[in-house]
Amino acid sequence: MSNWDRVRASAPGKFILFGEHAVVYGEPSLSLALDRRVTVSAQRRGGAISVNGATLNSYRHAYIEAALKSHWSGGGLRIRTRSRLPSASGLGSSAALSVATVAALMALESGAPPKPSRVAKAAFEAELRVQGAASPNDTTASTHGQGVFLAPEPEAGLPRLWKIQRNQRTWIAHHVDAPPVSFVVAHSGQRGRTADQVALVKKRVDAGGDALKSIRRIGQITREGRKALQQNDLQRVGRLMDENHEHLARLGVETDRLAALVQASRKAPGTLGAKLTGAGGGGSMIVLTTSPPEAKRALERVQAPAWIINVGGGGLEVEG
Ligand code: PMV
Repeated sequence: MSNWDRVRASAPGKFILFGEHAVVYGEPSLSLALDRRVTVSAQRRGGAISVNGATLNSYRHAYIEAALKSHWSGGGLRIRTRSRLPSASGLGSSAALSVATVAALMALESGAPPKPSRVAKAAFEAELRVQGAASPNDTTASTHGQGVFLAPEPEAGLPRLWKIQRNQRTWIAHHVDAPPVSFVVAHSGQRGRTADQVALVKKRVDAGGDALKSIRRIGQITREGRKALQQNDLQRVGRLMDENHEHLARLGVETDRLAALVQASRKAPGTLGAKLTGAGGGGSMIVLTTSPPEAKRALERVQAPAWIINVGGGGLEVEG
């Protein structure tokens, strides 16, 4: 038996620091990978495909099934998954699962670790199959790790990773050094469906008014925030996070609960900035702070589960 009859692949979760929603309108986004990962082990065997000891189930294992459809030519498999991401936290666990599963299946099929750019593209397609709408933001960030700046055009001064094209759209992924800081992440306890929130913003944009101005300003914030991050100007990163949040609120994806969490964290000593992260309508918010325990306590006082999260996790790893 070659080593590659059994493989293990792992990929990190992520959060969006700047640019959610605006990325749908051709603006850039900036994501940071976490030091917490999803691991998928897969082993060839006789018989059927099992996931964590159970028969493959389209509802429970939608992301795994989508990856199998495109990247497995058949035959029995024993798949096991393990996640160190807080569950249902909006920290990219479905993308990390897609990336790790696609990579494990490609490695089993070819007997070698796959190229990250191939995995990023294939995992994006797998996510699309399940969700119907997505940008390649999450799967790219999870494949590369560290920091990723995704933009429709090459960005001067940033190392380019790969290009993804779909329908009429192009995204270019760039590497960004992650800052040596911790963030605090809290969950609102509400679940916002990404597709619904994207539709809501589209309605506002189509209605005219100031929505498109907010989208364009978020694009500028993302570019400025990327530079501030690279200059390690955390005060400025924090102010830009606050401003990004205000524009997301104007776009309608804030909820009362998210607003309450952002307010609570801003009162904590050491907070430099706070915003919702991801699609909104629920989900999570993030805090940049010089004192993560203070922000975590402030959020727990308003009954929000909160975690101190290190960023800059490495990207996809595959072992035979
Ligand atoms: O829900 P998340 O964390 O995957 O973020 C969605 C980000 C959006 O910009 C709202 C949508 C997208 O596909 O880019």
